[in-house]
Amino acid sequence: MTNSGKGAKDTDPLKNIVAHAKEYGFVFPSSEIYDGLQAVYDYGQNGVELKNNLKRLWWKSMVQLNDNVVGVDSAIFMHPTIWKASGHVDSFNDPMIDNRDSKKRYRADELLEARIEELRDAGNENEAGELAASMGKLLESEDLEGVRDLIIEQGIVCPLSGTSNWTEVRQFNLMFSTHMGSVSEDSDKVYLRPETAQGIFVNYLNIQKSGRKKIPFGIAQIGKAFRNEIVARQFIFRMREFEQMEMQFFVRPGTEMDWYEAWMEKRMNWHVAMGISKDALRFHKHEKLAHYANAASDVEYNFPFGFKEVEGIHSRTDFDLKNHQEYSRKKISYHDPETNVSYIPYVVETSAGLDRLFLMTLCEAYTHEEVRDGDNVKQRTYLKFPAFLAPNKVAVFPLVKKDGLPEYARNIFNDLKMDHQVVYEEQAAIGKRYTRQDLIGTPYCITVDHESLENGTVTVRERDSMAQERIALDKIRSYVEEKLSDRNLLNKI
Ligand code: GAP
Repeated sequence: MTNSGKGAKDTDPLKNIVAHAKEYGFVFPSSEIYDGLQAVYDYGQNGVELKNNLKRLWWKSMVQLNDNVVGVDSAIFMHPTIWKASGHVDSFNDPMIDNRDSKKRYRADELLEARIEELRDAGNENEAGELAASMGKLLESEDLEGVRDLIIEQGIVCPLSGTSNWTEVRQFNLMFSTHMGSVSEDSDKVYLRPETAQGIFVNYLNIQKSGRKKIPFGIAQIGKAFRNEIVARQFIFRMREFEQMEMQFFVRPGTEMDWYEAWMEKRMNWHVAMGISKDALRFHKHEKLAHYANAASDVEYNFPFGFKEVEGIHSRTDFDLKNHQEYSRKKISYHDPETNVSYIPYVVETSAGLDRLFLMTLCEAYTHEEVRDGDNVKQRTYLKFPAFLAPNKVAVFPLVKKDGLPEYARNIFNDLKMDHQVVYEEQAAIGKRYTRQDLIGTPYCITVDHESLENGTVTVRERDSMAQERIALDKIRSYVEEKLSDRNLLNKI
């Protein structure tokens, strides 16, 4: 996110981004004409393209470029016992606390984490460490009264009421449930999956056997997940319906920490390759581990509201497969031909939230700056997406709507659209058309003018520098191809 110069729009940068996302067809509140549905969003004409590009690049780097990772697409509805075996029915809870004066509800662990962050920022590293350790212990032992006492002891107040008039801490299960079939009985209860990972675990045997896979190997999946988030805020950061891109990597027990480190490095490199600046990214080691993990780190991005998680890398041991073996009574072990030993594989998972990657990409791209035009200083807003992520790759314009220029431009458009998402526009003055494309992040605009008819060249304008160059018609396709290639980036991961 770049915001330079006087007269920049934001007092709250997130507000500008949310408004921009709506005005230019990226993200709309769901059911808006009915006043919306809290923490649910729709992706518009440009948003869906950006989202698809993120998915495509994740899939390519995971499945296409790793010869030991394959994909799967499992159903959202699954047998309800799966969620018992996975621990989600009993343990997928958030500790909630209410402030009696403001009537606002908070996640108790998040209140304490914000305090830890405050202490760190003030240079009180020891105090922060001690608090993190106390919090970890209390949450681990589910000592909810202790968590409340710690909040009060730390003098944490509700940001709205300014008081510490807190209720007790309660656990709240985040899974949505519904009923399958026409009769609502408890035995027909099914859940909307809160993570895509379980669809991978329960297909592990199918894929290992039908694909004759040898350990180590991974299974990747992109799909919807649902969580009844209590504190839903920060736009598409925390939603009730969202999309995950997860990969479970099955390894020999005892090797999981090496793979955990390796995947941490690989995933961080991927985010940097996607155009995110290195200093806006960091790892955050979990103090409190999820019920299935023996090590976990988050990749965090510096959003306008601070460093927050975009992806989790978890060492999940054999927790899930072992439990599925126990609950399903189907043998899930692997005979390792190298060691001649049978075991239940350990799992290292990478779990990215697609909507959070989308928001990170948008924040990183949103640029508001001053440009000099002779004596004039103008404000300019544009989206600086890497070309391979931009919703539209190229816009093709005839300079005017006559003299055969539209036909010429349409030919270029019809040729390029076979390989890329390209737009054609002939309305409005050329400057306005450039601005419109800048606002949605189109990296290249091709303009056909009268000179094109004379010498077969067109103008290509580059979004960030606004520089223009003339290119011969027969070079356009290779020019665009080279500019849009993700080959060099993905090579570095
Ligand atoms: N399978 C492991 C798992 O689901 P998680 O840390 O709970 O781990 C993984 O979630 C990722 O899913 C997070 O890093 C985040 O990007 C995304 N995510 C989780 N809850 C979300 C929500 N309510 N809205 C949007 N994204 C969410």
